[in-house]
Amino acid sequence: MLEQLDTLEQEALAALAQANDPGALAAWKQTYLGRSASLSTFLGDLGKLPAAERPLAGKRGNEVKRTLEAAYAAGEERINAAVLNHALQSEALDVTLPGRPLRRGRLHPSTLILRRIYAIWAEMGFQIYRSPNVELDDYNFTLLNIPPHHPARDMWDTFYTTEEGVLLRTHTSPGQIHAMREFAPAPLRVILPGMCFRYEQITARSEIQFHQVEGLAVGPGITFANLKATLADFARRMFGEGARTQFRADHFPFTEPSMEVDVECFVCGGKGCPVCKFSGWLEILGSGMVHPTVLRNGGYDPKVFSGFAFGMGPERIAMLRHGIEDIRYFWGNDLRFLEQF
Ligand code: DAH
Repeated sequence: MLEQLDTLEQEALAALAQANDPGALAAWKQTYLGRSASLSTFLGDLGKLPAAERPLAGKRGNEVKRTLEAAYAAGEERINAAVLNHALQSEALDVTLPGRPLRRGRLHPSTLILRRIYAIWAEMGFQIYRSPNVELDDYNFTLLNIPPHHPARDMWDTFYTTEEGVLLRTHTSPGQIHAMREFAPAPLRVILPGMCFRYEQITARSEIQFHQVEGLAVGPGITFANLKATLADFARRMFGEGARTQFRADHFPFTEPSMEVDVECFVCGGKGCPVCKFSGWLEILGSGMVHPTVLRNGGYDPKVFSGFAFGMGPERIAMLRHGIEDIRYFWGNDLRFLEQF
């Protein structure tokens, strides 16, 4: 019987030496130390032995049990170390490897040109004034001296909503009324950037949505000369020191007198090319002296105050600067276009 215990001990130790992973170790424990292991049965049945044999059998049985328990603990340590070692080797990180490149986002070309325009006007003392995309007919037209049923409304193909008198603004000019009503009777100098919407046929030169940057200065004694100097200064800052400008008489209901401003074609230097349609000049904005009716609607007394206004198309300017031949690229969501900026 004691030999049986010796054999069991040897067999168990030999089997443990073969166990090399946590699963085999658990199985070994079940077999040799578990509730139904032969050693457990042996120890449980000690009482059935003749009294004379009991002390020796019990002593040896418990000895074997302690040996196996100690061997198990050592085996557990050995296997845990092996598992850890394996993980350290197979999952090793080479921290010296170059990282995965991050895909860089970038700003939309409209955002880029808008920021450039804001910076220039900020240098000249104009603050940004935000006004809504969804407007009342009054602000978009009537208060800008374009009464209902006046043919001047035909200059803008308008998106009307199902709500009476509510529309998507066709230009940023309605912001002039909002700004004046907030500032009056104090002088103001603001730019009004934002998206405009027109129910137009979409072509390479016109979209149903585009940005405008409106400008407005109101104060006592502001003159047409101030307007010309300010716009010429803007053109130099935007297009370079040598940029020449040309002013052409035009008509807008909200300004009197009104004019359009051209900048000398920087592609051909004024000699004439396809970009400027061989005129040597590129149109960049409309402007004029704020009409007395508009000043009055904004809360200023036209006998005391005067002002100038202008409206430019940033996408147009970006197209000119970068030689972009189709305005539809701006909202076409084509990465091949967007990634060039
Ligand atoms: N609102 C005009 C348009 O969208 C542009 C414009 C012209 C704005 C003259 C002005 C201005 O402020 O003075 O066609």
